Amino acid sequence: MAESMQGMKRSHRCAEVSGKNTGETITVMGWVQKRRNLGALIFVDLRDRSGLLQIVFDENCVGSDGFVKAGSIRNEFVIAVTGKVQKREAAVNENLKTGDIEVFAEELRILSESDTPPFPIEENSQTKDELRLKYRYLDLRRPDIQKNLMLRSKVVYLMREFMAKEGFLEIETPILCKSTPEGARDYLVPSRVHPGCFYALPQSPQLFKQLLMCSGYDRYFQIAKCFRDEDLRADRQPEFTQADMELSFVDIDDVLDVNERLLQYVFREAVGEEIQLPLPRMPWQEAMDRFGSDKPDTRFGMELKDVSEIVKDCGFGVFTGALEQKGSVRGINAKGQGAMPRKKIDKLVEFAKGYGAKGLAYLAVLEDGSYKSSFAKFMTEEELSALVRAMDGEPNDLLLFAADKNKIVWNVLGALRLELAKELELLNPNQYHFLWITDFPLFEWSEEEGRFMAMHHPFTMPVEEDWKNIDTDPGSVRAKAYDIVLNGTELGGGSVRIHQNDIQEKMFEALGFTKESAYEQFGFLLEAFRYGVPPHAGLAYGVDRMVMHMVHADSIRDVIAFPKVKDASCLMTEAPGTVDEKQLAELCLKIEE
Ligand code: AMO
Ligand code: AMP
Repeated sequence: MAESMQGMKRSHRCAEVSGKNTGETITVMGWVQKRRNLGALIFVDLRDRSGLLQIVFDENCVGSDGFVKAGSIRNEFVIAVTGKVQKREAAVNENLKTGDIEVFAEELRILSESDTPPFPIEENSQTKDELRLKYRYLDLRRPDIQKNLMLRSKVVYLMREFMAKEGFLEIETPILCKSTPEGARDYLVPSRVHPGCFYALPQSPQLFKQLLMCSGYDRYFQIAKCFRDEDLRADRQPEFTQADMELSFVDIDDVLDVNERLLQYVFREAVGEEIQLPLPRMPWQEAMDRFGSDKPDTRFGMELKDVSEIVKDCGFGVFTGALEQKGSVRGINAKGQGAMPRKKIDKLVEFAKGYGAKGLAYLAVLEDGSYKSSFAKFMTEEELSALVRAMDGEPNDLLLFAADKNKIVWNVLGALRLELAKELELLNPNQYHFLWITDFPLFEWSEEEGRFMAMHHPFTMPVEEDWKNIDTDPGSVRAKAYDIVLNGTELGGGSVRIHQNDIQEKMFEALGFTKESAYEQFGFLLEAFRYGVPPHAGLAYGVDRMVMHMVHADSIRDVIAFPKVKDASCLMTEAPGTVDEKQLAELCLKIEE
């Protein structure tokens, strides 16, 4: 039977008790991790979020009722114990923070009983994800997840502390917003009062934070919930948290400076990692050319090399064909992998095809300096050795080439480079390689839509020297945008915003908006810009991703208390769910069968 805790008050968390408390009478409360009966003694491992503490029940001390009660305890019962701290005489547990002490119980109360849990509550659980997420409240009791969420809390606290000291104001922006295009798909909320109208949940506080700059709140900050209806991946959730900021009267260097110091502070205080400043910066073009990615993992080399010049007149149609289509031929050198079996190479070819390659050409330099290659027969000896030289190929290297449009070649080799690094264990999880990517293209051509799209968003400022080319050659215009990348993940991104109406108009034009359609979508912002707008810039981090990296989790789900699964549903609450006819009728909605 569950008892009241009246008259008892918790004095310590379990693992906060130490040898220093020896002889003191304390009260602890928590969940039973394990109970062992040793005849005259009963041992219980008590757990709370701080850790474990051993409790000893002896009939002489706890009384006969108390001893019987202790015998009835099962795993996950919630109990309260008052007793005396003493040094363990034997069986000191080196692996436990409290392993050299125990509490000799004088009073025991069972505050709540527990059914047998569907899986053991323990670190490094092997339980299937589906079961863990269905019973997420039990999964959240596991010490490894608790550690993650405690660190997450600390990270957010540290950010708030730093930002407040730097003069940022935390201001909340709405969750019920107007749908605006560009970016991911919106989550929509039907309006009851305005039948047929919908709110959109914010994909980010972008427009509101720019309006706050117009209103004079020259340093804004927010821990903001964002919503995006996009395909989930290991580092993506439909709702996630940004640490979002905007600053007035600043240029790129000011934003990067405050953010570098923020990162340095948070990583030092949260995980003891000392980041060296300033962080390296790399223009987007260089990142693509060297790593095939705008979020390069720079913990290892295996950089891409453009060999188009070398193979432009060779006899291999795949290479020359790609060059005729204005593409390129690039390769990577998997050092020491020259003896990779054919089967394994075939797997790499399949992997490359998954990223849009038509194929993957390979050349292995054997121990004796001879070649084994999928395309050697199409090339002369001279052409081959020029190619190997360009790739710094040495005996026992494996050279892999992709020939296609640049975008595909980068995508394929960028992914292949990472795949090989994983396989060859070149990635050290304890190394933190931060890097700014700058000078992104302002526009990206969308084959699907047949028009230019904003690579970041339509309010991003073009680099001053490129303003003249917006009308004539939009594809060549660089943006004053920047991403912060950590070990191959985009941790955050931002830009300097356009604050001049004429440039904004040109931007909308290039994006295919008419003046009317731009006003329809973003009228309130454009209107606000007519009343005095300061130059401004900002950035947002994915908080979930940042914490995920700090704890070396494989999935963003491990740092979110109640995450969703791949199809965006919640296995615990079974959201999303149907609603009854009355609710639909109120919203003037009908579900089509
Ligand atoms: P952006 O769209 O780059 O920029 O988002 C900023 C950061 O948010 C994180 N993020 C996500 N995290 C988890 N799940 C998702 N689905 C997800 N999508 C994005 C990433 C990303 O770097 N308003 C701009 C910022 C600005 O310009 O100031 C913005 O939202 O870590
Ligand atoms: P094929 O002539 O199609 O049999 O291809 C000859 C070799 O070139 C094979 O090893 C293919 O995998 C490879 N290959 C085909 N297309 C490409 C491409 N676009 N880039 C690189 N290699 C390719």
